[in-house]
Amino acid sequence: MAEQLSPIDKAKFAAARRAVDFVEDGMRVGLGTGSTAAWMVRCLAETVRDAEMTITTVATSARTAQLARDLGLRVIGLDEARWLDLTIDGADEFDADLTLIKGGGGALLHEKIVATASDQMIVITDAAKEVGTLGAFPLPVEVIPFGWQATRALIEETLASLDVMGQGAELRMKGQAPVVTDEGNHILDLDLKRIGNPRQLSLVLNQIPGVVENGLFIDICDRIVIGHPDGQVELRDIATGAVEREHIDFSESDNLFRDIAD
Ligand code: 5RP
Repeated sequence: MAEQLSPIDKAKFAAARRAVDFVEDGMRVGLGTGSTAAWMVRCLAETVRDAEMTITTVATSARTAQLARDLGLRVIGLDEARWLDLTIDGADEFDADLTLIKGGGGALLHEKIVATASDQMIVITDAAKEVGTLGAFPLPVEVIPFGWQATRALIEETLASLDVMGQGAELRMKGQAPVVTDEGNHILDLDLKRIGNPRQLSLVLNQIPGVVENGLFIDICDRIVIGHPDGQVELRDIATGAVEREHIDFSESDNLFRDIAD
């Protein structure tokens, strides 16, 4: 059944499948947003069912919450959970320090809050998202709708004095209307091409009035699981520097692929 998946989906699935093995009975788990995170939610629901585990989850978006509930997972709010053992989420770009760009799916604000309210964050990704220097992927910045054009102008002016290669900030659209996040905000995508100093950029952006949060995740990710279309997975741990390589057998997940095809 896995043959029906595209190579990129196989890679995403392999990473998601492996990451779910870090979930233990009784844990409170943060669920990311995006296509890789959606594979993880499916794998997690299957694992919880098969192993008769009891876990509680907190979702980073309305669509992830819906998927998790549809698959039988218990979903509660972060205020009820208070603190999480583990969050598993995707990313748009990552570098050697496991600094991330996130927010391609528009959920960066909840994703950052949930990840930082967790003992551990594991990122699941395919290998194509690894970069030497962040910035080829446009950096998402969540801004409040009030005065967003003034906020954009301030951002562009500020970028001129920072170690980046571009200054353009595009309002993210869905059809004819601006994207509205789960918090009712808009997203500006910054075309920076090269982010020389992510830490400085993140601090400066978050000081601009109207900016709610930016998509740079710095010192948040503890471990990354990088999937490949042939089922190989590479696990990197930022604290120990350990790198492990394993293999995921797609045939063991035939039930899951069949359910999706139905
Ligand atoms: C959503 C995100 C996603 O994790 C990121 O966009 C990766 O998505 P995908 O797994 O679909 O490639 O940050 O806000």
